[in-house]
Amino acid sequence: MVNPEKFIEKAIDEIKTAAGSNKVVMALSGGVDSSVCAALAARAIGDNLIPIYIDTGLMRKGETERIQQVFSDIHLDIVHAEDEFLGSLKGICDPEAKRKAVGERFIRVFEREARTQGAKCLLQGTIYPDIIESQGGIKSHHNVGGMPLNMEFTSIIEPVRDLYKDEVRDVAGALGLPKEIQHRMPFPGPGLSVRVIGEVTKEKIAIVREANWIVEDELVEKYRPWQCFAALIGLGTGVKGDNRIHGWIVAVRAVNSRDAMTADPINIPFEHLVRIGSRITADIPSVARVVYDVTAKPPATIEYE
Ligand code: XMP
Repeated sequence: MVNPEKFIEKAIDEIKTAAGSNKVVMALSGGVDSSVCAALAARAIGDNLIPIYIDTGLMRKGETERIQQVFSDIHLDIVHAEDEFLGSLKGICDPEAKRKAVGERFIRVFEREARTQGAKCLLQGTIYPDIIESQGGIKSHHNVGGMPLNMEFTSIIEPVRDLYKDEVRDVAGALGLPKEIQHRMPFPGPGLSVRVIGEVTKEKIAIVREANWIVEDELVEKYRPWQCFAALIGLGTGVKGDNRIHGWIVAVRAVNSRDAMTADPINIPFEHLVRIGSRITADIPSVARVVYDVTAKPPATIEYE
C-alpha cells in the first residue's frame, strides 16, 4: 500500500518535471482516477493544466450536468462529440474493435482541443490494472492498448499508473476531494458502448442509459457495491397487453471486488430484484425481460464486453 502523502509529493514533482512550462490537456471524466490526476496536476502546474470533459454520448444519465456542478470552481472545457463517437462506432460489433474505435476518437478529439489550446502534453488517469490487462491481452483499455500509435502529443503523463483503485481512493482522501468522488464506482472509458452487446445505436444507448439509472438508484446507496449497472444483452419475446412483442433483454449486474481482477455477485433479496425488474419494464416499454447476473469474475468479466 502506498503512503498517500509521500505519493502526492512525488507525483507533483514528477508532473512538474514532465510538463516543464508546457500546457497539458487532460480528460476529466469525474471518476476518481481522473479527478485525482486533475488535483495533482493543478497543484503541480496550475493554469497550464487544461481539463477537458468530452461528452461522448455514451455517458450515464445526467453525468455531463453533474460534472459541471462538481467542478464548477475550475475552468472545464466541455466538448460535445456525441455524433462523432456514434459515427465511429457505426457497424462495429466486436468488443475490442469498439474499444479501439472509442480510444482513437478520444485521442482525435483531444488532439484537436490540444491544438487549439497550444498543448503538447497529454495527462491520463491510467491505473495499474489497466496496464496489466492491456499487456496481458485481456482487453485494450481506451487509454492503453486502444490508443492509436500515430499521436501528435510529444509526451504522455500518467501520474497514477502504479496504483490500484483502492490506493487511488486513499490518495483522493488525502487530497481532500469530495467523498462522492473518492468512492465513485468505476465507469469504463468506452462508457455505455460496452454495456450494449453488438452494434451500438442511439436507441440502444438511450435504453441502457435509462435502465442503468434505475439500477444505480436502487442499489448504490443500499449496497455500496464495487459496481452495479444495467446492460442490454439482446432481444427476446415478451407480452405487452394482448400482444407478443420482440423486446429488449436487460441484465442487472452488481458486484463486490477489491481491484476488479476478481469479483463476486452481490446477494440482493429476491423481492428487491423483482421490484427492479418491474420498474425497468414499466419505465422502458421496449424492455420485455430483466435478468440478474449471478456470475463471479472469473469466469465472467464485470462488464458484458
Ligand atoms: P472487466 O469487464 O474486464 O472489467 O472485468 C474490469 C474493470 O475495468 C472496467 N473496464 C474498463 N475501464 N476502459 C476502462 O477504462 C475499458 O475499456 C474497460 N472495460 C472494463 C470495468 O468497468 C471494471 O471496473
